[in-house]
Amino acid sequence: MRTPLIAGNWKMNNSVGESTELVEGIKKGAEGVKKTDIVVAPPFTALHAVSCLINGSPISLSSQNVFWEEKGAYTGEVSPAMLKDVDCKYAIIGHSERRQYFGETDETVNKRAKVALSHDLIPILCVGETLEERESDKTFDVVQTQLKGGLQGIDAEGIQKLVVAYEPVWAIGTGKTATPEQAEEVHQFIRGQLKGLYGEEQSEQNRILYGGSMNPGNASDLLSQPNIDGGLVGGASLKADSFLAIIMAAEKPSL
Ligand code: 13P
Repeated sequence: MRTPLIAGNWKMNNSVGESTELVEGIKKGAEGVKKTDIVVAPPFTALHAVSCLINGSPISLSSQNVFWEEKGAYTGEVSPAMLKDVDCKYAIIGHSERRQYFGETDETVNKRAKVALSHDLIPILCVGETLEERESDKTFDVVQTQLKGGLQGIDAEGIQKLVVAYEPVWAIGTGKTATPEQAEEVHQFIRGQLKGLYGEEQSEQNRILYGGSMNPGNASDLLSQPNIDGGLVGGASLKADSFLAIIMAAEKPSL
Protein backbone atom coordinates (compact mmCIF):
# COMPACT_ATOMS: atom_id res chain seq x y z
CA MET A 1 0.00 0.00 0.00
CA ARG A 2 1.57 3.27 -1.12
CA THR A 3 1.26 6.33 1.14
CA PRO A 4 -0.26 9.25 -0.79
CA LEU A 5 2.05 12.24 -1.17
CA ILE A 6 0.91 15.78 -1.91
CA ALA A 7 3.73 18.18 -2.73
CA GLY A 8 3.40 21.91 -3.28
CA ASN A 9 5.89 23.35 -5.76
CA TRP A 10 5.86 27.07 -5.07
CA LYS A 11 8.17 27.76 -8.03
CA MET A 12 9.48 31.37 -8.11
CA ASN A 13 6.80 32.73 -5.81
CA ASN A 14 6.61 34.06 -2.24
CA SER A 15 8.84 36.27 -0.14
CA VAL A 16 10.05 34.93 3.19
CA GLY A 17 7.06 36.61 4.89
CA GLU A 18 4.56 35.17 2.39
CA SER A 19 6.17 31.75 2.69
CA THR A 20 5.95 31.65 6.47
CA GLU A 21 2.35 32.83 6.39
CA LEU A 22 1.44 30.15 3.85
CA VAL A 23 3.14 27.35 5.73
CA GLU A 24 1.53 28.42 9.00
CA GLY A 25 -1.86 28.11 7.30
CA ILE A 26 -1.04 24.68 5.91
CA LYS A 27 0.29 23.53 9.28
CA LYS A 28 -2.89 24.57 11.06
CA GLY A 29 -5.17 22.91 8.53
CA ALA A 30 -3.10 19.73 8.35
CA GLU A 31 -3.26 18.90 12.05
CA GLY A 32 -5.65 15.99 11.60
CA VAL A 33 -3.96 14.54 8.52
CA LYS A 34 -3.06 10.92 9.16
CA LYS A 35 -2.30 9.00 6.02
CA THR A 36 -0.91 11.52 3.56
CA ASP A 37 2.67 12.75 3.30
CA ILE A 38 2.75 16.53 2.87
CA VAL A 39 5.67 18.29 1.22
CA VAL A 40 6.30 21.96 0.43
CA ALA A 41 8.99 23.23 -1.96
CA PRO A 42 9.54 26.95 -1.31
CA PRO A 43 12.08 29.04 -3.22
CA PHE A 44 15.67 28.69 -1.92
CA THR A 45 15.46 32.04 -0.09
CA ALA A 46 12.62 30.79 2.12
CA LEU A 47 13.83 27.24 2.83
CA HIS A 48 15.38 28.05 6.17
CA ALA A 49 12.46 30.09 7.50
CA VAL A 50 9.95 27.43 6.44
CA SER A 51 12.14 24.68 7.83
CA CYS A 52 12.10 26.28 11.30
CA LEU A 53 8.31 26.45 11.25
CA ILE A 54 7.58 22.88 10.15
CA ASN A 55 9.91 21.27 12.64
CA GLY A 56 7.83 18.65 14.49
CA SER A 57 4.86 18.97 12.11
CA PRO A 58 3.73 16.43 9.49
CA ILE A 59 5.03 18.70 6.71
CA SER A 60 8.36 17.93 5.02
CA LEU A 61 10.61 20.24 3.08
CA SER A 62 11.75 19.96 -0.54
CA SER A 63 14.04 22.02 -2.72
CA GLN A 64 13.12 22.78 -6.33
CA ASN A 65 16.53 21.70 -7.63
CA VAL A 66 19.93 20.48 -6.46
CA PHE A 67 23.43 20.75 -7.97
CA TRP A 68 25.65 17.68 -8.27
CA GLU A 69 28.93 19.10 -6.94
CA GLU A 70 29.69 19.24 -3.23
CA LYS A 71 31.07 22.77 -3.04
CA GLY A 72 33.25 25.28 -4.81
CA ALA A 73 33.22 27.79 -7.64
CA TYR A 74 29.72 27.18 -9.01
CA THR A 75 28.12 30.61 -8.82
CA GLY A 76 24.37 30.44 -8.38
CA GLU A 77 24.16 26.74 -7.48
CA VAL A 78 23.05 25.03 -4.26
CA SER A 79 24.69 21.81 -3.06
CA PRO A 80 23.01 18.75 -1.55
CA ALA A 81 24.81 19.36 1.78
CA MET A 82 23.36 22.89 1.90
CA LEU A 83 19.88 21.44 1.43
CA LYS A 84 20.46 18.86 4.16
CA ASP A 85 21.70 21.69 6.37
CA VAL A 86 18.22 23.26 6.28
CA ASP A 87 16.57 19.83 6.73
CA CYS A 88 15.32 19.27 3.20
CA LYS A 89 14.01 15.74 2.82
CA TYR A 90 13.14 15.86 -0.89
CA ALA A 91 14.50 17.53 -4.04
CA ILE A 92 12.43 18.17 -7.16
CA ILE A 93 14.60 17.21 -10.12
CA GLY A 94 14.13 17.70 -13.87
CA HIS A 95 11.01 19.84 -13.75
CA SER A 96 9.90 20.68 -17.29
CA GLU A 97 10.46 24.38 -16.60
CA ARG A 98 14.10 23.61 -15.89
CA ARG A 99 14.29 21.47 -19.03
CA GLN A 100 12.59 24.20 -21.09
CA TYR A 101 14.29 27.36 -19.78
CA PHE A 102 17.59 26.23 -18.25
CA GLY A 103 18.91 23.55 -20.56
CA GLU A 104 18.27 20.62 -18.24
CA THR A 105 18.86 17.30 -20.02
CA ASP A 106 18.30 13.67 -19.06
CA GLU A 107 22.02 13.51 -18.30
CA THR A 108 21.97 16.45 -15.87
CA VAL A 109 18.73 15.14 -14.36
CA ASN A 110 20.48 11.84 -13.78
CA LYS A 111 23.49 13.50 -12.10
CA ARG A 112 21.19 15.46 -9.80
CA ALA A 113 19.13 12.36 -8.92
CA LYS A 114 22.22 10.35 -8.08
CA VAL A 115 23.77 13.04 -5.90
CA ALA A 116 20.45 13.55 -4.13
CA LEU A 117 20.26 9.86 -3.26
CA SER A 118 23.84 9.77 -2.06
CA HIS A 119 22.98 12.58 0.39
CA ASP A 120 19.79 10.94 1.57
CA LEU A 121 17.56 13.40 -0.27
CA ILE A 122 14.51 11.84 -1.94
CA PRO A 123 14.43 12.79 -5.62
CA ILE A 124 11.06 13.75 -7.09
CA LEU A 125 12.00 12.98 -10.68
CA CYS A 126 9.80 14.81 -13.19
CA VAL A 127 8.92 13.55 -16.65
CA GLY A 128 6.29 14.59 -19.17
CA GLU A 129 5.59 15.33 -22.81
CA THR A 130 4.80 18.59 -24.61
CA LEU A 131 1.54 19.12 -26.48
CA GLU A 132 3.31 18.66 -29.80
CA GLU A 133 4.77 15.36 -28.63
CA ARG A 134 1.37 14.15 -27.42
CA GLU A 135 -0.31 15.14 -30.65
CA SER A 136 2.27 13.25 -32.65
CA ASP A 137 1.80 10.13 -30.52
CA LYS A 138 5.20 10.36 -28.89
CA THR A 139 4.06 10.50 -25.25
CA PHE A 140 5.26 7.01 -24.29
CA ASP A 141 8.54 7.37 -26.18
CA VAL A 142 9.32 10.70 -24.50
CA VAL A 143 8.38 9.51 -21.03
CA GLN A 144 10.37 6.30 -21.50
CA THR A 145 13.48 8.19 -22.64
CA GLN A 146 13.27 10.71 -19.79
CA LEU A 147 12.69 7.98 -17.23
CA LYS A 148 15.47 5.68 -18.44
CA GLY A 149 17.87 8.62 -18.81
CA GLY A 150 17.05 9.98 -15.38
CA LEU A 151 17.40 6.59 -13.71
CA GLN A 152 20.64 5.54 -15.43
CA GLY A 153 22.92 3.85 -12.91
CA ILE A 154 20.45 4.12 -10.01
CA ASP A 155 20.54 0.78 -8.27
CA ALA A 156 18.02 -1.32 -6.37
CA GLU A 157 18.70 0.57 -3.15
CA GLY A 158 18.40 4.03 -4.71
CA ILE A 159 15.13 3.32 -6.48
CA GLN A 160 13.45 2.41 -3.19
CA LYS A 161 13.43 6.06 -2.15
CA LEU A 162 12.73 7.70 -5.46
CA VAL A 163 9.42 9.36 -6.35
CA VAL A 164 8.39 9.93 -9.98
CA ALA A 165 6.19 12.85 -11.04
CA TYR A 166 4.35 12.72 -14.35
CA GLU A 167 3.70 16.29 -15.44
CA PRO A 168 2.40 16.70 -18.98
CA VAL A 169 3.85 20.05 -20.06
CA TRP A 170 0.60 21.07 -21.78
CA ALA A 171 -1.25 20.77 -18.46
CA ILE A 172 1.13 22.88 -16.36
CA GLY A 173 -0.23 26.28 -15.43
CA THR A 174 -2.73 26.13 -18.30
CA GLY A 175 -5.84 25.05 -16.43
CA LYS A 176 -5.98 22.08 -18.87
CA THR A 177 -5.74 19.05 -16.62
CA ALA A 178 -5.14 15.62 -18.09
CA THR A 179 -8.31 13.58 -17.67
CA PRO A 180 -8.00 10.90 -15.00
CA GLU A 181 -7.92 8.32 -17.82
CA GLN A 182 -5.16 10.14 -19.73
CA ALA A 183 -3.08 10.50 -16.60
CA GLU A 184 -3.69 6.93 -15.42
CA GLU A 185 -2.64 5.55 -18.80
CA VAL A 186 0.79 7.20 -18.50
CA HIS A 187 1.15 6.38 -14.80
CA GLN A 188 0.48 2.74 -15.63
CA PHE A 189 3.09 2.94 -18.38
CA ILE A 190 5.63 4.45 -15.96
CA ARG A 191 4.98 1.68 -13.44
CA GLY A 192 5.46 -0.85 -16.22
CA GLN A 193 8.81 0.74 -17.07
CA LEU A 194 9.88 0.58 -13.42
CA LYS A 195 8.83 -3.06 -13.36
CA GLY A 196 11.00 -3.76 -16.42
CA LEU A 197 13.98 -2.03 -14.82
CA TYR A 198 13.67 -3.05 -11.17
CA GLY A 199 11.11 -5.86 -10.94
CA GLU A 200 7.45 -6.00 -10.02
CA GLU A 201 7.80 -5.84 -6.25
CA GLN A 202 9.80 -2.62 -6.40
CA SER A 203 7.58 -1.04 -9.06
CA GLU A 204 4.56 -1.55 -6.79
CA GLN A 205 6.28 0.45 -4.05
CA ASN A 206 7.30 3.55 -5.99
CA ARG A 207 5.04 6.55 -5.73
CA ILE A 208 4.08 8.24 -8.98
CA LEU A 209 2.63 11.74 -8.62
CA TYR A 210 0.52 13.60 -11.14
CA GLY A 211 1.19 17.30 -11.80
CA GLY A 212 -0.51 19.77 -14.09
CA SER A 213 -3.38 22.04 -13.03
CA MET A 214 -4.37 19.78 -10.13
CA ASN A 215 -6.92 21.64 -8.01
CA PRO A 216 -9.58 20.95 -5.37
CA GLY A 217 -12.14 20.28 -8.09
CA ASN A 218 -10.25 17.56 -9.95
CA ALA A 219 -7.98 16.09 -7.25
CA SER A 220 -10.36 13.34 -6.07
CA ASP A 221 -10.92 11.94 -9.53
CA LEU A 222 -7.22 11.97 -10.33
CA LEU A 223 -6.17 10.55 -6.96
CA SER A 224 -8.68 7.71 -7.11
CA GLN A 225 -6.90 6.23 -10.14
CA PRO A 226 -5.03 3.06 -9.15
CA ASN A 227 -1.60 4.27 -10.28
CA ILE A 228 -1.82 7.92 -9.21
CA ASP A 229 -0.27 8.14 -5.75
CA GLY A 230 -0.37 11.85 -5.16
CA GLY A 231 0.13 15.24 -6.70
CA LEU A 232 2.84 17.76 -7.49
CA VAL A 233 0.82 20.92 -7.26
CA GLY A 234 1.83 24.35 -8.56
CA GLY A 235 -0.72 27.18 -8.59
CA ALA A 236 -3.15 25.56 -6.16
CA SER A 237 -0.38 25.10 -3.58
CA LEU A 238 0.06 28.86 -3.20
CA LYS A 239 -3.08 29.22 -1.09
CA ALA A 240 -3.44 27.20 2.10
CA ASP A 241 -7.15 26.51 1.48
CA SER A 242 -6.77 25.01 -1.96
CA PHE A 243 -3.65 23.03 -1.02
CA LEU A 244 -5.39 21.66 2.07
CA ALA A 245 -8.45 20.69 0.01
CA ILE A 246 -6.19 18.58 -2.23
CA ILE A 247 -4.58 16.99 0.83
CA MET A 248 -8.05 16.15 2.16
CA ALA A 249 -8.91 14.51 -1.18
CA ALA A 250 -5.86 12.27 -0.72
CA GLU A 251 -6.95 11.46 2.85
CA LYS A 252 -10.26 9.97 1.74
CA PRO A 253 -10.59 6.41 3.01
CA SER A 254 -11.48 5.07 -0.44
CA LEU A 255 -7.97 5.80 -1.71
P1 13P B 1 0.31 23.85 -11.88
O1 13P B 1 -0.37 23.06 -10.79
O2 13P B 1 0.33 25.32 -11.64
O3 13P B 1 -0.22 23.48 -13.24
O4 13P B 1 1.85 23.41 -11.87
C1 13P B 1 2.16 22.06 -11.85
C2 13P B 1 3.60 21.93 -11.66
O5 13P B 1 4.40 22.25 -12.52
C3 13P B 1 4.07 21.42 -10.36
O6 13P B 1 5.42 21.13 -10.38
